[in-house]
Amino acid sequence: MSSTRAASSAAASAPSAQQPAPAAAGAAQPAVAAAGSAEDPQLPVLDAVSDYEKIKRIGEGTFGIVYKARDKRTGELVALKKLRMERERDGMPVTSVRELRVLQTCRHPNLVELKRVVTGPRLDSVFLVFEYCPHDMGKLVDSLPKPFHESEVKCLMQQLLSAVCYLHDHWVMHRDLKLSNLLFTHCGQLKLCDYGLARYFQPWEEAYTPGVVTLWYRAPEVLLGAEHYTEAVDLWSCGCILAELLRNDPLFPGRTEAAMLSLMSGLLGAPNDRIWPGLRDLPLAHKFSLPPQPYNYLRKEFPQLSDSGIDLLNRLLTYDPEKRITARQALRHPYFTERPLPRLPEYMPSFPSAHDAADSEGRGGQHRQRREMEEAHGRGVKRRYQMEERDRFGDAFGDAHAHKRPEMLRRLD
Ligand SMILES: Nc1ncnc2c1ncn2[C@@H]1O[C@H](COP(=O)(O)OP(=O)(O)O)[C@@H](O)[C@H]1O
Ligand SMILES: [Mg+2]
Repeated sequence: MSSTRAASSAAASAPSAQQPAPAAAGAAQPAVAAAGSAEDPQLPVLDAVSDYEKIKRIGEGTFGIVYKARDKRTGELVALKKLRMERERDGMPVTSVRELRVLQTCRHPNLVELKRVVTGPRLDSVFLVFEYCPHDMGKLVDSLPKPFHESEVKCLMQQLLSAVCYLHDHWVMHRDLKLSNLLFTHCGQLKLCDYGLARYFQPWEEAYTPGVVTLWYRAPEVLLGAEHYTEAVDLWSCGCILAELLRNDPLFPGRTEAAMLSLMSGLLGAPNDRIWPGLRDLPLAHKFSLPPQPYNYLRKEFPQLSDSGIDLLNRLLTYDPEKRITARQALRHPYFTERPLPRLPEYMPSFPSAHDAADSEGRGGQHRQRREMEEAHGRGVKRRYQMEERDRFGDAFGDAHAHKRPEMLRRLD
């Protein structure tokens, strides 16, 4: 599926195993290359993290705290995120190289902007400097007493789908779409962040690391152990996000893979070979037995939503990834042209920064606690993924695995 579909939309930018994907127009020069090419005047020189004054902690990153900080030279607010390094002698892990490559080559108004890469006092401390966004949608939604208006949900979804469409056109799957990875500015702009699980994909079938994506937003094929999944996993997450924005509550808040599948089956009907050919061949298909459940209860769950809204939800939450709607198709869905029309970003409401809110604010600690548990799970997914990738590739620039470097760089994309 992904082959034909992605190939038609981005044939010109298809990467090959040997050849890296081309940078998007206007992409920044690769900052990390600066370290190795000091003589090239074109390349930016790495700055020091001491050029930034930490203001406060705004997020718990998987490998370190994310800080709100100020550039001492310009006064500009930024977010500082520590990049994972694998012990001094092993250098930069392949997953961090991937994260950086995606951040450097992908530029879009709805993707958070990487401004610089800076170094700390220790050999292994490298920080990413991002534009600062006052909200993360996870914390924001948990603090709102009622859901966004539907026109606002449409505005947010259009921005999210534009970002996802751009990534897929550039052969990148994000693999961790969820509310806490969506940032929101005071100008009503949504910015996708966190490329810790992102990777380039190929137009032909390839095996990828199983078990990616934080549980609540994980597509059924990934839950069932697929390794040959496609960028359609991101569209399932978009369906979960649309539903969550509409009702201010996560759609599938399961704590285990089995609970997730049973929640899906209860709402959408149980998957079977008729609606999803190939289901029984998935590695874990026999591990989870779901009782037959023939009904789809989306209409009952979203009684206010128009038929076209229900249709879009159903197309995003389609079990068979081959039949799931693409980001480009979703952007053209009639839901976005019927009333209420999507609000323009500049007319979106503004809120006091969720990063500045006390933990006790909002709809009670319960929602926050639940999301924090889910976030902790997401960090576990990411750590496991990084270990698995390290075992497969070794680290990129450390001496310990220098002999593996050419093969690793060839397979990086
Ligand atoms: N540019 C940014 N502006 C404001 N907050 C940010 C920014 N980047 C990250 N954050 C906050 O830090 C949290 C963790 O950052 P993220 O990149 O998602 O790291 P992790 O890989 O650990 O999930 C985000 O959920 C968000 O709350
Ligand atoms: Mg994150």
